[in-house]
Amino acid sequence: MKFGHFDDTRKEYVINTPKTPYPWINYLGNQGFFSLISNTAGGYSFYKDARLRRITRYRYNNVPLDMGGRYFYINDNGTVWNPGWSPVKTELDSYECRHGMGYTVITGAKNGLKAEVTFFVPQDYDGEVQQVVLTNDSASEKSFSIFSMAEWCLWDAQDDCTNFQRNFSTGRVEIEGSTIYHVTEYRDRRNHYAFYTVNDEIDGYDTDRDAFLGSIYNGWDNPTTVFEGKASNSFADGWSPVASHYKKITLAPGESKTLIYILGYAENPQDKKFADTKPEGLLTRETWVLNKEKAYAMIDKYNTPEKVAAGLAELRATWDNLLSIFKVDTPDDKVNRMVNIWNQYQCMVTFNLSRSASYFESGIGRGMGFRDSNQDILGFVHQIPERARERLIDIASTQLSDGGCYHQYQPLTKKGNADIGGDFSDDPLWMILSVASYIKETGDWGILDANVPFDDDPEGKHTMLEHLDVSFYHIVNNLGPHGLPLAMRADWNDCINLSCFSDTPGESFQTYTNPKFKAEGGYSKIAESAFVAALFTYTGPAYVGILEHLGKNDEAAKAQAEIDKMKKNTMESAFDGDWFIRAYDANGEKMGSKECEEGKIFIEPQGFAVMSEIGKEEGADIKTLNAIDKYLNCEFGLVLNNPAFTKYYIQYGEISTYPGGYKENAGIFTHNNAWIICAEAYAGRGDKAFEYYSKIAPAFTEETSDIHKTEPYVYGQMIGGKDAKNFGQGKNSWLTGTAAWNMVAISQYILGVKPEFDGLRVDPSIPSAWDGFTASRQFRGDTYEITIKNPDHVCKGVKSLTVDGQPVEGCIVPVSGDGKTHKVEVTLG
Ligand code: GLC
Ligand code: GLC
Repeated sequence: MKFGHFDDTRKEYVINTPKTPYPWINYLGNQGFFSLISNTAGGYSFYKDARLRRITRYRYNNVPLDMGGRYFYINDNGTVWNPGWSPVKTELDSYECRHGMGYTVITGAKNGLKAEVTFFVPQDYDGEVQQVVLTNDSASEKSFSIFSMAEWCLWDAQDDCTNFQRNFSTGRVEIEGSTIYHVTEYRDRRNHYAFYTVNDEIDGYDTDRDAFLGSIYNGWDNPTTVFEGKASNSFADGWSPVASHYKKITLAPGESKTLIYILGYAENPQDKKFADTKPEGLLTRETWVLNKEKAYAMIDKYNTPEKVAAGLAELRATWDNLLSIFKVDTPDDKVNRMVNIWNQYQCMVTFNLSRSASYFESGIGRGMGFRDSNQDILGFVHQIPERARERLIDIASTQLSDGGCYHQYQPLTKKGNADIGGDFSDDPLWMILSVASYIKETGDWGILDANVPFDDDPEGKHTMLEHLDVSFYHIVNNLGPHGLPLAMRADWNDCINLSCFSDTPGESFQTYTNPKFKAEGGYSKIAESAFVAALFTYTGPAYVGILEHLGKNDEAAKAQAEIDKMKKNTMESAFDGDWFIRAYDANGEKMGSKECEEGKIFIEPQGFAVMSEIGKEEGADIKTLNAIDKYLNCEFGLVLNNPAFTKYYIQYGEISTYPGGYKENAGIFTHNNAWIICAEAYAGRGDKAFEYYSKIAPAFTEETSDIHKTEPYVYGQMIGGKDAKNFGQGKNSWLTGTAAWNMVAISQYILGVKPEFDGLRVDPSIPSAWDGFTASRQFRGDTYEITIKNPDHVCKGVKSLTVDGQPVEGCIVPVSGDGKTHKVEVTLG
């Protein structure tokens, strides 16, 4: 069952009922000011850091779900309704929500009155613009009132929802004309404020939540002021400050009125925090006055429909540009809309927010993840390489000089997060992969010379290349008894914790150090990860390629020898006959082996082992891929492990705490599905690769939205696996490494357009039924118009490749760098 449809020309998803199976959200903003907005206008805003600079309040896991956002209430002769249905939930005569690239338009109509609300965050602007167009579609004159509503968060979202003894007494506002300012803690240590304004005279306001609602026992669905059709002009003093504008409107038949509301954020220099004089008519309880210069300028920027239209046009142009770098036209519309629009859009969001703020991530718990942010770059780097470069340097600066990494860092301070610490065995390798992908995209070898400090040597002169060296050797220097990398606290799978042996509720599986390993540095020197081994052999060649390019041939040969040795060790000690085992636990026992009672096979090591060609000459790659198909494949994707764990295995950790079919215990963890899609494509099995791709790519789940539940335009982290009661049900949408990895899987492995150090590889591995496809790729200043023909209906194999009519050996289009458009023609066979 569907709840809407794709509008590909406008790059929108159009939702036709407010009652989606889960709130279907969008993100506004891509620089400093961000908003989350659901299809019923729920959500919140923050500036840069969702925890430390939260602008509006939101209650997660509320009953009912998704209460709280920015709401407009209309009281039309006693009928109270919201354009987005919620929170009053009066049945509407019509409803539509269009989620587009950085904007959302929600339109509701009731009794002949239509309200169309456009929400967006303009480029280079720290505020959310909300344009409300009210139209009287009835045959008679209409008089009604409209109320806006935003509830302020007292800045630190964690404190805001816990420290009530203090923060019920700190809330403060100022009101000037139609603008309500939020100035909590501004007198003392803060120099930032927020405001909510409307570009018209108002007939009243409310800034105290209880006064707006009329009773502490009322909800957002039942505010007395709105139902009585009159604001109470309340002035907040502690408790919960809000901002609500009240306006009376009369419209003749056919007449429209546009109101522009702005929810903004601004910072003042320390010496310009206060205004010198108190203007006439300013409402305040303070002896000081906020300096509002910045707010005035921001308000002036979008106070007419023409200016709003220009801001929206600029935003659209920005996205049209970003999405013109890579475009495809394949025989499958769903692939086209994923590749050309939604997957790239999601990659921007994950690049911006890592795993911080979604409807499943509270914006409080997590900073930027070391492994997460590195992987996010893989799907984003072609869009704005300069921002990727900056991010790479930020991430690398949190690395330690021995190659170890802080697992997370805070975006505002850019410092490693000491509470979580390090020793996640896979972290350093993602750094090699992301830096290599940046160089492959841009040809900017200069990044290797960039000065990038280590966290434990902040003043030292170090280069990015040194970071890659220590990353590579961090693995080599930390091997276990079989010559495989130590598993440490966890590898990519946060929930395989082989040194934890936790028996106390509430202990963090990732950070708890079992006393028995204290003397050894915090983790077992026996437990080894076959996944990290495979990731090492997959990423290692990029490091070797970099050294060779720099003419460091001895170092390249030395690194290559380590890779070869790792392949040998993996084949000898981690190949189980038909697939690769997952790990050796701290007792030296195999995990993810035929010999195990449960969890006999795991997905993670397999894809990278296949792409590293470990044991290929003995057929290990095809055996492995077939085993995945046999044991992990199911209707909605590939489960992470099989059979699911039904008991707590203290030696494995968090993975065996989840009920079977959820999360890391045999859930369909879409992130690692992408690695198998890549591996199938790599092995030339384009039909299989596409089968797996189409099981999890959101556009393909649209028809079963009632089962899948989450948005059909973006990936979620997890889908319930075959052992779960809710088989096929998506969770944790938006902020997942799946976005980047499936962008890589479809664009670089299936469609086969893959940047390399020395050019653009074009080597597709597609469904054999396809006659071919076309693609347009901007790459290092040139544009390549690529045509793939598949007359023999094969999956893979470049029979001929020409560039501007000239034959080229192999399948790498050399960089021409002349800034022109080149025709690339490929025939498969
Ligand atoms: C989450 C984490 C990611 C981890 C994965 C598997 O997606 O953000 O870092 O690799 O779970 O545990
Ligand atoms: C990752 C995993 C999640 C686990 C968490 C612990 O996000 O996906 O299952 O609970 O890490 O930090």
